[in-house]
Amino acid sequence: MKIGVLGAGSMGAGIAQIAATSKHKVVLFDANQKAIDKAFSNLNRIFNRLIEKGKYTKEESTSILERIKPISDLSSFSDCDLVIEAIIENLEIKKSIFKQLDEVCSPTCILASNTSSLAISAIAGACSRPNRVIGIHFFNPAPLMPLVEIIPAIQTDEAIVKKSKELIDSWGKRTVIAKDTPGFIVNRVARPFYGEALRIYEEGIADFATIDWAMKELGGFKMGPFTLMDFIGNDINYAVTESVFEAFYYDPRYKPSFTQKRHSEAGWLGRKTKRGYYNYAEGAELPQPKIDKELGEEIVWRILVMLINEAADALFLNIASRDDIDTAMTKGVNYPKGLLKWADEVGISTCVNKLDELHDTYREDRYRCSLQLRRMVMKGESFY
Ligand SMILES: NC(=O)c1ccc[n+]([C@@H]2O[C@H](COP(=O)([O-])OP(=O)(O)OC[C@H]3O[C@@H](n4cnc5c(N)ncnc54)[C@H](O)[C@@H]3O)[C@@H](O)[C@H]2O)c1
Repeated sequence: MKIGVLGAGSMGAGIAQIAATSKHKVVLFDANQKAIDKAFSNLNRIFNRLIEKGKYTKEESTSILERIKPISDLSSFSDCDLVIEAIIENLEIKKSIFKQLDEVCSPTCILASNTSSLAISAIAGACSRPNRVIGIHFFNPAPLMPLVEIIPAIQTDEAIVKKSKELIDSWGKRTVIAKDTPGFIVNRVARPFYGEALRIYEEGIADFATIDWAMKELGGFKMGPFTLMDFIGNDINYAVTESVFEAFYYDPRYKPSFTQKRHSEAGWLGRKTKRGYYNYAEGAELPQPKIDKELGEEIVWRILVMLINEAADALFLNIASRDDIDTAMTKGVNYPKGLLKWADEVGISTCVNKLDELHDTYREDRYRCSLQLRRMVMKGESFY
């Protein structure tokens, strides 16, 4: 299969690398020649490092890179079997590009979008053959992150879903199927990891360092939420939260935080500006956490139960299967355990009791328990 990649930014270049490594001929287009030049210089740098590490020989690396050809005209996608779009996250621009792709590509070519937050059905709606449009959502950095969410639009043919899934699986990725709803699986289910941590901080229960320490050392997460937000960038993470909140018709469960908004507005974006929740300037010392096991366990449990509630609700609303929800969180954001498996381990009724306690205390809809969990308690069921 010949693969077209539209957009040569961080995601497009990574996707081109994966496809070429999997022996496909790849054509890469970007509206900005500088982006193409940067993508090729980055790819050269990456492969030089991979050669140094002994992952590839010089010959293998040269033949992979030679399989990726820059193109300067969308019509060069005409003989592709799959085109993956990874341009700017703007619905109107994506719709206009898909309309053009629909015209220049062969009728059998699959048209995929790597969008993180836009509706695939809306993008498909711009095409005369919406049944061949699908979401293929890679995570950043695409060559390293194993998870890929496959998102059929409501118009997508079942055969296109199957073919896309088989292809991406053959690239060594772990695919999960997600319904075309805001945030798909990962960006929806992960919201409380950030939101509840911010809320705990705002209530003065603990500072950033203590919350991070608790989630890492007691919760077993690779990184604490504030360290992770500083990595992702507060501007990016805040924008995702805001777009999920709006897309869910302002469901209070996804309400963004003023703390994060202010950090973003102040330009305290995280590592990339050397200042976020922490100070990364040279010589600056990171604050020490308060090592209090009881407090730490309470923090972990509150964030975890909110994550479990989100995962259970995603299952309740048929966003994805039980296995795909657990795979998405372990392979897409490196959670130490699948959340539904975790819920079984702590006990479903324990989760319901904690959520009800939070709901009773705060009297906020944010803490409402998913009917999925409540019904399971009534029936004495577990996820696995
Ligand atoms: N960065 C991430 O963490 C991440 C993760 C998953 C998905 N995504 C999604 O992938 C897409 C791309 O994200 P990115 O981070 O690679 O962005 P980026 O800004 O690094 O790259 C986007 C590229 O698209 C090009 N472009 C913009 N408009 C174009 C047009 N009309 N025609 C052709 N090229 C155009 C730009 O020149 C740029 O090179 C977005 O939809 C984003 O939501 C991003």
